[in-house]
Amino acid sequence: MIKSEQIYFDFDGQNIVVHKVKNMEELITDPTDPDKVPCWAEIWPASIGLARYIHAQRDLTHITAIELGAGLGLPGVLAGQKGAHITFSDFNAQALYYCDQNARSNGLQKYDILLADWRDFPPDLKYDLVLGSDIVYEPRLLPYLEKVLTNFLNGNCEVLLSHSSRIVSFEFAEELAHNLQKEHYLDYIDVSVEESLFTDYRIAIHSIK
Ligand SMILES: C[S@@+](CC[C@H](N)C(=O)[O-])C[C@H]1O[C@@H](n2cnc3c(N)ncnc32)[C@H](O)[C@@H]1O
Repeated sequence: MIKSEQIYFDFDGQNIVVHKVKNMEELITDPTDPDKVPCWAEIWPASIGLARYIHAQRDLTHITAIELGAGLGLPGVLAGQKGAHITFSDFNAQALYYCDQNARSNGLQKYDILLADWRDFPPDLKYDLVLGSDIVYEPRLLPYLEKVLTNFLNGNCEVLLSHSSRIVSFEFAEELAHNLQKEHYLDYIDVSVEESLFTDYRIAIHSIK
């Protein structure tokens, strides 16, 4: 039986709880298969940065939103709390189990869950806002992700991508916006993570629309 733990965040006095797997090692079944690396089970600094950005900058009342590669769903939870009807999506069913738990534990009532792989993603979905924290990193997946995001952007939405300093992610966002002739704004948010090898992160937030 996999043990869970709860991590608490304070967003300007608003308490958020994230349920996660206590020991990620227990999830490793085949380290040679990149699809089975349990990166969904970590709260990545980019997700804290995007959640803080949404909390501080956005009123999402009457907005429909999807979080891609949601993992534990922290930015999606904050988007839901700011009024969005959020869909948590991932290709890993265990991740979506935790998204569901995290949405409910933080009082979200209207949200959806979508099990979908970027390599075979439904092409006709429409949302006002698309969220992705730490999803642009794996070269073999980038062409699929580009297609997914292009479909969304052609439907006139805004895409928010967050990541820690990673050249491939900067280049991907820049090229995506350039190729589609979309506006591209770049913001930064500082995130401190206790009990981590590195404690201070500068998280880039790309808005493409
Ligand atoms: C580095 S983790 C980031 C998780 C979360 N967004 C965060 O920032 O904490 C990447 C996420 O993308 C998901 N993912 C990886 N490959 C995927 C694919 N082909 N289709 C859909 N989701 C995928 C993983 O399951 C994982 O949740």
